[in-house]
Amino acid sequence: MTDSNGSQPSLRFSSISTAPPDPILGLTEAFLADQRSDKMNLSVGVYKDASGQTPVLNCVKAAEQRLLENEKTKGYLPIDGAADYRKAVQRMVFGEAISSDRIATLQSPGGTGALRTAASFLASEMPPMRVWASTPTWANHHAVFAAEGLPVESYRYLAADQKSLDFEGMLEDLTSKASRGDAVLLHACCHNPTGIDPTSDQWDVIAKTLSERGLLPLIDFAYQGFGHGIREDAASIEAILQQNQEAIVCNSFSKNFGLYGERVGAISIVAGDAGAASAVQSQLKRLVRCNYSNPPRHGGSIVATILGCDELTSQWESELAAMRDRIKALREQFVTTMQRTGKGHDFGFLLDQCGMFSFSGLNKMQVDQLKSDHGIYIVGSGRINVAGMLESKMDSFCAAIADVLEN
Ligand code: LMR
Repeated sequence: MTDSNGSQPSLRFSSISTAPPDPILGLTEAFLADQRSDKMNLSVGVYKDASGQTPVLNCVKAAEQRLLENEKTKGYLPIDGAADYRKAVQRMVFGEAISSDRIATLQSPGGTGALRTAASFLASEMPPMRVWASTPTWANHHAVFAAEGLPVESYRYLAADQKSLDFEGMLEDLTSKASRGDAVLLHACCHNPTGIDPTSDQWDVIAKTLSERGLLPLIDFAYQGFGHGIREDAASIEAILQQNQEAIVCNSFSKNFGLYGERVGAISIVAGDAGAASAVQSQLKRLVRCNYSNPPRHGGSIVATILGCDELTSQWESELAAMRDRIKALREQFVTTMQRTGKGHDFGFLLDQCGMFSFSGLNKMQVDQLKSDHGIYIVGSGRINVAGMLESKMDSFCAAIADVLEN
């Protein structure tokens, strides 16, 4: 093919370099390509039942049955999503803490979609500002905010012992390094990747610090119900809102409803009054319209159907509690199995961590060895998806961990 001058155009895409694999989802790609039959994938945060499956919850099946019978259309949703879904999100996330006319809520494709919309809103409406993220944090946080051109800075979080919260360091960074107007990214519960959350007294201090320093709370709420309970896990948000009039909360229903691939989430921006909330809502809609236009319908309809029906809600609450309890039991089984190896490997500190993940303290070399020698995939930071462990494979998993610790 020739251009209008009769010469051959250069091949534009030939100079594109290959991007590195994603630090979390890239591991599942490598896992799937691994031919070993005894391989284990404990990387991505997905719950698995005792048979190793990621189940569809019974309440979800029941809601889908109702949708199949009653759904009238597959037409577009409004740009900001379905009204009943948005109301359900507000009740779940905020309880009775805030009057709904002060909250702008927009249905999003998953928690990541909510975070990216938050990034887009901050970059467009609040510049200049920086976003402060914990060290460590979810492997995708930096990329999501940087993609909208926002500078991402780090505050201390995990202490040098790799087992506890560096609360003093965190406060020092927020008070001496962050500037008025910056946003502080916090994990409402089940901190990813460490599983280490502030205590309720510490949340009060964080809330007060943000308010005194004029820092905007930007809260990632991806694991509601996986820590201590649905309302218990929202206590951090309530503490923040007691001292701060404004906040952004990005929540996800991937984990707590097992709706991973349906991409169901929301961004809620709490404003000072109803007028501001309505202007914020209009800006969120503007940003989304030129991005993905409007959210996918199916997953949000499932959540709204469940949360709109008392019977399905209580079924969901007990299915969620069963997942939470089983993860806790797996964590305990891991600790006792490591003790039983008799090599003095004390992972008792994992019992203080909560949620889907545990931070093992394994270094990059040990993580690589786990993969190459044993076909076990965990995230490079040493994060283990406890919710993916299997009772039946605990002995071999712990033997592999002991092996990489000793060699
Ligand atoms: C994780 O941290 O493994 C999950 O939040 C899934 C993801 O998108 O990374």
